[in-house]
Amino acid sequence: MTPRNPLDLRKFVAPEFICGYGALHLAGRYARNFGMKQVLLVTDPGVRAAGWAEAVGESLTEAGVSFTVFDSISVNPRSRQVMSGMEVYRSEECNGIVAVGGGSSMDCAKGIGIASSNMRDILTFEGVDRVPVPAPPLICIPTTAGSSADVSQFAIITDEERKRKIAIISKTLVPDISLLDPQPLTTMSRELTVDTGMDALCHAIEAYVSNASSPMTDMHALEAIRLIHDALPAVILEPEDLNLRFSTLLASLHAGLAFSNASLGAVHAMAHSLGGVCDLAHGRCNALLLEHVIPANYEAASEQYDRIGAIIGPVQGERTPPAEGIAAFRRSLGITGTLASVGVGEDAIQTLARRAYADPCMVTNPRRLTCEDIERIYAYAL
Ligand SMILES: [Fe+2]
Repeated sequence: MTPRNPLDLRKFVAPEFICGYGALHLAGRYARNFGMKQVLLVTDPGVRAAGWAEAVGESLTEAGVSFTVFDSISVNPRSRQVMSGMEVYRSEECNGIVAVGGGSSMDCAKGIGIASSNMRDILTFEGVDRVPVPAPPLICIPTTAGSSADVSQFAIITDEERKRKIAIISKTLVPDISLLDPQPLTTMSRELTVDTGMDALCHAIEAYVSNASSPMTDMHALEAIRLIHDALPAVILEPEDLNLRFSTLLASLHAGLAFSNASLGAVHAMAHSLGGVCDLAHGRCNALLLEHVIPANYEAASEQYDRIGAIIGPVQGERTPPAEGIAAFRRSLGITGTLASVGVGEDAIQTLARRAYADPCMVTNPRRLTCEDIERIYAYAL
């Protein structure tokens, strides 16, 4: 990696956010402040069943704001789901969006917003800064601690025709306000807690070693790594502990502020490609790839990886130091699979690598990887 000059110009974008117990009950007040009269409440069936969408709906009603629920969203939101959300947004004459859910709901909500304001298919916004008309006001209420869609300028949407995920990166995707409340996290399953926590860890690590990092993003990235390392193993033993849940939410916030501004790297580029062909949770894709990307990148950012290794814990082994520690951390959380165990065959590697190579996240990877390098990393992860 070219040595970083601390005087390089950098921009730092962050939404307004409120964090703490009860934040979700402020949804109605902020919707009214933004002039929302008819809200599209974007959520998913699981979050609805847990009662969190209802709690947000009550807050909207108390503030005199009407709403329509849109919950036809799957894990890894699809372009068709975004476009049908846009139809509902338009037919119900909505003028604002409230998303309550994990990364899938929030990314879908972002997609509905820009598709509605630009009257264009969601797939046409792929890439960096390609959204001409800003989205309507968006309030995000995360119910998981990891995607950081509540603070980021990213949205990841699956193109089901081409079986690939597209990344949309634009300042217009930063929510107008995010309400970060530890309460909804208490109903997450252990698996979801672990997968989303590993996603946040990948965000922090990739932002820290990114060639677009800066002193401001470094600070958030390191704090996220520290918090995840301390809180994630503890929270799976005490899932209803609000203090631990809040630590994971803060970790996700720090990681989000870091990666939204420093971008990501090869782990995410490869996870996006992987998630396009097998419908595996995004955090799980990252968790299965992270330790295999580190050896390929190590020489280009050794100082940063060593600092990460010092937090994650020095583990003796044959592999590059932080890779071994991260593998041990992943296993301690119960993530033990490989790409082969989730149904990926050797024959898929070439296509996966070609798509990962073209992913915008690859641009900020500390080392320029060739398609052959990426194929090798996938092969190690099989
Ligand atoms: Fe991610």
